[in-house]
Amino acid sequence: MPVTDFKLPEKYQYLNGFNSYHESEAIPGALPVGQINPQKCAYGLYNEKLSGTAFTAPRHENQQTWLHRILPASAHEPFEPRETATFDTNPGSIHGTHKWHQIPNQLRWDPFDIDESVDWVHSLRLVAGAGDPTVKSGLGIFIFSAGKDMDPHSAFYSADGDFLIVLQHGALDIQTELGKILVRPNEICVIPRGIRYRVSLPDGPVRGYILELYQGHFTLPELGPIGSHCLANTRDFQAPIAAFDEDTSNTYTLFAKFAGHLFAAQQTHTPFDVVAWHGNYYPYKYDLARFATIGSIAFDHPDPSIFTVLTAQSDHPGTAIADFVIFPPRWLVQEGTFRPPWYHRNTMSEFMGLIHGEYDAKTGGGFQPAGASLHNVMSAHGPDAGTHAKASEAELKPMKVGEKSMAFMFESALMVGVTEWGLTKCAKVQKGYNAESWVPLKPRFKRPEGTQVMNGSANGKLGDKSQAPHWT
Ligand SMILES: [Fe+2]
Repeated sequence: MPVTDFKLPEKYQYLNGFNSYHESEAIPGALPVGQINPQKCAYGLYNEKLSGTAFTAPRHENQQTWLHRILPASAHEPFEPRETATFDTNPGSIHGTHKWHQIPNQLRWDPFDIDESVDWVHSLRLVAGAGDPTVKSGLGIFIFSAGKDMDPHSAFYSADGDFLIVLQHGALDIQTELGKILVRPNEICVIPRGIRYRVSLPDGPVRGYILELYQGHFTLPELGPIGSHCLANTRDFQAPIAAFDEDTSNTYTLFAKFAGHLFAAQQTHTPFDVVAWHGNYYPYKYDLARFATIGSIAFDHPDPSIFTVLTAQSDHPGTAIADFVIFPPRWLVQEGTFRPPWYHRNTMSEFMGLIHGEYDAKTGGGFQPAGASLHNVMSAHGPDAGTHAKASEAELKPMKVGEKSMAFMFESALMVGVTEWGLTKCAKVQKGYNAESWVPLKPRFKRPEGTQVMNGSANGKLGDKSQAPHWT
């Protein structure tokens, strides 16, 4: 069945569809009919707009949602800086402790530790990225790990970008302003910029990866000759239905990630008081098992872009600030073909993670669930020596790869820098990545006997194996 067999059963209802215009009422009649701004809202609610794009963005890009709530989001005390010594996810920050390391080395990380001492807000570790949230440019790549629920009287939002959350361990019960979402391993969740939410952990400690998109929003990739469906289908994205609390007597702490720094403000009412909403700017989740994978049924194989779930394009169509790509279980049937990924150097940077199982292009055991790798712009990589040797001799019968496995990639046109935490403080970077993966590759070249070797010269002399080029 093309759905994940989750350990934790679903407990919420959802609205289906990607970038759909939805409306949802926790109390029937809460939304106005035929107008946006009635003089008096139903049930004494306040009407509030949440914009995800500029007002004048083209219609096909425009994202806005109208909230009908008990009190407006603005009813809070001023924000104050919080955890200034420890929370810093802006690499260009005044604290100066997270400047990017721009290095061409291939990097691979052991599984990141689970930290049970912190909640969601304090679990965010910037490991790599590019650009700057203050100019809405680029992306951040985070590792998160937490063992505590957020305080029941708290909420969090990021003003810096959209969170694409790839859960690896545990489960996330996310109460958002627009309703509740349960996220389990093999599901991803996108929480757009500005939406307030609270995370609790119904299945113990959690760990995973986040891509924060500082510019634009995720869209579905173009399908071109594939046609009108397959890959991630529109109907399989799930948005929450309206659900609200009513509490105007307790003090709540509202955390904000703003320019990579943490702030907090107090308010005397729950942030989760949206009784009804309508719009197309909302959080959503997606079960990766629903991805309708496309591949070669003859010979060779297409670029890994065929596995793109979501994309965020730059101003140049086809060139992404961020692609979210997965490597799901699939059949390989190509004839006469080296079936693992080819060796390559890519103008894009590739950050990979593993949710569970074993990635089929790396069988050496160094790329493990909750670990990661980074192959930056033009950093050469490909199958490790063992995988190459095995695949070169394998009988090419139909075979299933990636069974019970889910690897993913955050791919970007931008050069991705690594933070001080990602390179040294986390103490997870593997020293022997090259030595284990590609240094053991042996030359397989056999010079053909009795065949003239031209090597760029008309008389063929330069091709003589024993002859050193005259310019050395
Ligand atoms: Fe690659």
